[in-house]
Amino acid sequence: MIPRQIVDEIVYRNDIEQVIGSYVTLKRAGSNYNGLCPFHSERTPSFTVFPSTHSFYCFGCGAGGDAISFMMRIENLEYVDAVRVLAQRIGVDIPEEDEQNGGASSVTRKRVLQMNLEAAKFFRDQLMNETYGKEALHYLTVERGLSMATVRRFGLGYSPNNAWLLTNHLRSLGFTDDEMVTGFLCGRSQKTGRLYDYFRNRVIFPIIDTAGNVVAFGGRVMDDSKPKYLNTSDTPAFKKSRHLFALNYAKNNAAEQMLLCEGYMDVIALHAAGFENAVATLGTAITPEQARIFAKYTKKVVITYDSDSAGQTASDKAMRLLGEVGVDVRVLKLEGAKDPDEFIKKFGADAFRDMLRDSKSGFAYRVDKVLMGHDISVPEEKIKASSAICAIIAASSSAVEREVHIAYAAERLGLTPQVLAGDVSRIRSKMRREQKKKLSNDAQMQLKGLNDHVNRDAAKHIKASAAEEAVLGLMLVFEQLRHVAAEGLDGLSAEDFSTEFGRRVFQTLCELEKSDGGYSKALLAQFFTVDELGRLEQIEQTRRSYSKNDIEVLRVNIANLKEEKGRDTRDVMSILELKRQKANQMKQKKNEK
Ligand code: UTP
Ligand code: MN
Repeated sequence: MIPRQIVDEIVYRNDIEQVIGSYVTLKRAGSNYNGLCPFHSERTPSFTVFPSTHSFYCFGCGAGGDAISFMMRIENLEYVDAVRVLAQRIGVDIPEEDEQNGGASSVTRKRVLQMNLEAAKFFRDQLMNETYGKEALHYLTVERGLSMATVRRFGLGYSPNNAWLLTNHLRSLGFTDDEMVTGFLCGRSQKTGRLYDYFRNRVIFPIIDTAGNVVAFGGRVMDDSKPKYLNTSDTPAFKKSRHLFALNYAKNNAAEQMLLCEGYMDVIALHAAGFENAVATLGTAITPEQARIFAKYTKKVVITYDSDSAGQTASDKAMRLLGEVGVDVRVLKLEGAKDPDEFIKKFGADAFRDMLRDSKSGFAYRVDKVLMGHDISVPEEKIKASSAICAIIAASSSAVEREVHIAYAAERLGLTPQVLAGDVSRIRSKMRREQKKKLSNDAQMQLKGLNDHVNRDAAKHIKASAAEEAVLGLMLVFEQLRHVAAEGLDGLSAEDFSTEFGRRVFQTLCELEKSDGGYSKALLAQFFTVDELGRLEQIEQTRRSYSKNDIEVLRVNIANLKEEKGRDTRDVMSILELKRQKANQMKQKKNEK
């Protein structure tokens, strides 16, 4: 743990408007700042920074907290790393030795990284070993056609067909069983409790982060046996949803564009052919965190997934996630080969470069997909294709973009742009009407807490959760009220809380209040997810604007909370909801007549 005085100082000395200002363009609004929220897409600013309380809150998506939670959210960092980044900003040094990885295990990130480095060296030595590595080296260089330079550049290795070689090697270097199992290099036999090497008889692909740490491994069999690849699961040093294979090299060649492929071998073949901006996800579909990594390093991503239908379906998701973070997305559809690796082997790097130049914008790709599914020489089919394409165009929020797309689509369909423009604007008005309706439905759901992902019990205990929020809000804002509540004012205890979330917040606040240094907001991010932190910020902001430091207000809410404890308000609500629906139906019938 980082000592709390240091954490407090770090939060205090980092101006939150400057921290956030380097990600978001902020405009002054009275004593606060406004800007476009970086966590959801919006055109009118609902994101506010409050310098006086060192906090931020988005009224649109509910993201909120202090500078630490902001860094955690925007850079996908763990608490300790977020604190460390903020410390660097103000020139405070936090010694590495203090690093602990929050969870139940005491194995540290640092130890796992040390162990991974040793394992990577071990795998490499095995590959280069005349006797052990012969077959694997033959596989990589002859069967897969990699040069020795490429094998070395990617630090490829081999895990021999022996259950204890690596285990014994790591043990001789002083790594503990706990470290080896947590680091996912060894498994533990259920029967005997003995450790064994996790990777056996596989060629090894080390995964290296942008700081040069070996964070994980992928291992491929050299024949058709299954599973084809084994990958490191999440460890204190690795979350597969937050890394990209070969980003350590690609980041230096990413300014213009990056290539996103499916497989390790695709990336390696592309780099070897001179496309050093290629990366791959690690055996999973692309995640929002990975999309944000792309946005950080580049303007444009070309998706070069496998040409099979799984690859094409995955392209749709990748297009959406990358579009959401604002990078320009293109899709390359390979012809004559199943993946980039095979394509380059068959047709060469120049042919691939030509394909890249012709890669389609996400829009053109989708239009072409619609056209492929319809024979537009048949009128009925042409109408269907046209309305599908107009729906795609209508989804774009920029008028310029829509006009450009309409021109393209008109040409492909053999229709005039005017006709298409008319259809597009009709779809857009309909979308706006539906949006409005949805917004008011959402607002109602929100009011009733029916849609609450952070506090899932709120829907069951509407009145109780309102009282809980009031109590917690007062505790968050006012030191004195926090103190008396934690001391059990009017017999208040964790058992009085009806919702799991409320109870957990209360317990955490009490524990912090009674801890050595007392409560500090800067400590909260260790105990809650970024979504929960957003909710805590909202609860705090609400109290800050409506309540005074008044113990009587606290008492009333404690009384309410106890009174409502455990009462299930769902039935009452569903009766109200039924009544409302009936009334609406009556109204509609009247209108129809
Ligand atoms: P592919 O099956 O396309 O493999 O899976 P590949 O990388 O092209 O490998 P080669 O060319 O057959 O040697 C794409 C990616 O999906 C993950 C791996 O990350 C792989 O690179 N994968 C695949 C797994 O994690 N496990 C598997 O069993 C298969
Ligand atoms: Mn493949």
